[in-house]
Amino acid sequence: MVFETLLLETGDDGVAVVTVNRPDKLNALNASVLDDLDACFAALEEDDAVRGVLLTGAGGKSFVAGADIAQFTALDSPAATAFALRGQKVFDRIERCRKPVIAVINGFALGGGCELALACHLRVASSSARMGQPEVGLGLIPGYGGTQRLPRIVGRGIATEMILTGGQVTAERAFAIGLVNRVFEPDDLMAEARAFLGTILRQAPVAVALSMEAIRASDLLQPEGMAREAALFGEAFATEDVREGVGAFLERRKPAFKGR
Ligand code: COA
Repeated sequence: MVFETLLLETGDDGVAVVTVNRPDKLNALNASVLDDLDACFAALEEDDAVRGVLLTGAGGKSFVAGADIAQFTALDSPAATAFALRGQKVFDRIERCRKPVIAVINGFALGGGCELALACHLRVASSSARMGQPEVGLGLIPGYGGTQRLPRIVGRGIATEMILTGGQVTAERAFAIGLVNRVFEPDDLMAEARAFLGTILRQAPVAVALSMEAIRASDLLQPEGMAREAALFGEAFATEDVREGVGAFLERRKPAFKGR
């Protein structure tokens, strides 16, 4: 299968490697990437030759540096809510995949990129990776499930800190707070990720799939939280601050927020 914004390689070992491929934009997620991820994971789910998935970003610098900020200039409040719901749906498909999906975080995983990693079942990172939810610095909020999944993975206190400060965490810190499962040297990352996935693929496949479903069942309240997140994401787009924050990023200057 060929995608405009993804590379897909499937090996004899049953491992599919999906690479988000917009390195000149640090693999930022635009509508095409979301459509491609949606189609790709639908196909991987159906492909009996695929037993597990590694998801990574092209180029040495970034996993995914977030949603494509250039798209935000065109969004009013209802369009922003729809934008969040679309991303949530694609990420939900990844989380619901019956085969283990590991995010291989080879650099920046910021905003929607961090949320994409959170939607994967497990996360491994290069020692040079940086993760964070910088949305408040742009006048918006995480809209692809970050407000729901991050607290479940790292606990509410640390998640609140990350979301309200917008700060980046190093790979070492990400490991310490349980945000990633393993940290490897950059040159070893892909081989080690494959080996890590291999330890899962040696277990009974149905039992692995049932375990993932059971773990997900603890999230039964999530649909309401996700809908609320999308509505609040839309609310953020009714502010002057979001125009200022997004404009400032695109013009490479510091934003001056007015709080309205
Ligand atoms: N959306 C759109 N474009 C993005 C992007 C994003 N989220 N992140 C990076 N890019 C683009 C840059 O605009 C630049 O494009 P250009 O070369 O056409 O000008 C290119 O990717 C390289 O990024 P640059 O900022 O020059 O790299 P850097 O090394 O100076 O900084 C980051 C790297 C990740 C710190 C910085 O790109 C950044 O802060 N990105 C946005 C992160 C973010 O806020 N994500 C959440 C969005 S909700």
